[in-house]
Amino acid sequence: MAEQKTLVVYYSRTGTTRQIAHALANALYADTEEIVATGNHAGVFGYLRSVIEARRRTSSAIAAVKKDPSAYDLVIVGTPVWAWSLSSPVRAWLAANKEHLPAVAFFCTLGGAGGDKAFGQMQEIAGKPPRATLAVNAADVIADRYAPALASFVTALEPGRRSETTPSKTSTAA
Ligand SMILES: Cc1cc2nc3c(=O)[nH]c(=O)nc-3n(C[C@H](O)[C@H](O)[C@H](O)COP(=O)(O)O)c2cc1C
Repeated sequence: MAEQKTLVVYYSRTGTTRQIAHALANALYADTEEIVATGNHAGVFGYLRSVIEARRRTSSAIAAVKKDPSAYDLVIVGTPVWAWSLSSPVRAWLAANKEHLPAVAFFCTLGGAGGDKAFGQMQEIAGKPPRATLAVNAADVIADRYAPALASFVTALEPGRRSETTPSKTSTAA
């Protein structure tokens, strides 16, 4: 693959999205930036708070980030799906950085439903279509069954394959 400077930005409440983010970063020799929510999203109350923030489409408070997305050729943004939406910490990062985004691609992990809706929200905030999307079921992450989908996504991100009008769509769903 021709050299392109790539950043993988992600939020993960329980580690699933982090696992995919790190696998992608390894495959693409990319830098990573983990979004850290400063509010507590852990436990039962944290779960409820996460659902409410996602349903209301509010951004949660996040810690200052270290990487400047405008220094990259491609930024891959990853989120868990919350209430058929993108997570509130990723919403906050996208809203804060939308003016500084190069080409983008999106990935999500999910229990089974809402990935396309989350990608639509991400595109709306970013103000541009993703070069490709990847949705991975959490069960496939736990069972280590995501390598073929990840490889397809990585291939779709090669510079020669870019298509800004018809993004490549990969999913581990049957
Ligand atoms: C608050 C909350 C809401 C969720 N809502 C959905 C949903 O609408 N659809 C879905 O398929 N999975 C849903 N899930 C499951 C997560 O998307 C899934 O477990 C994801 O892989 C978690 O990623 P993480 O470990 O990186 O936080 C939800 C999980 C949480 C915590």
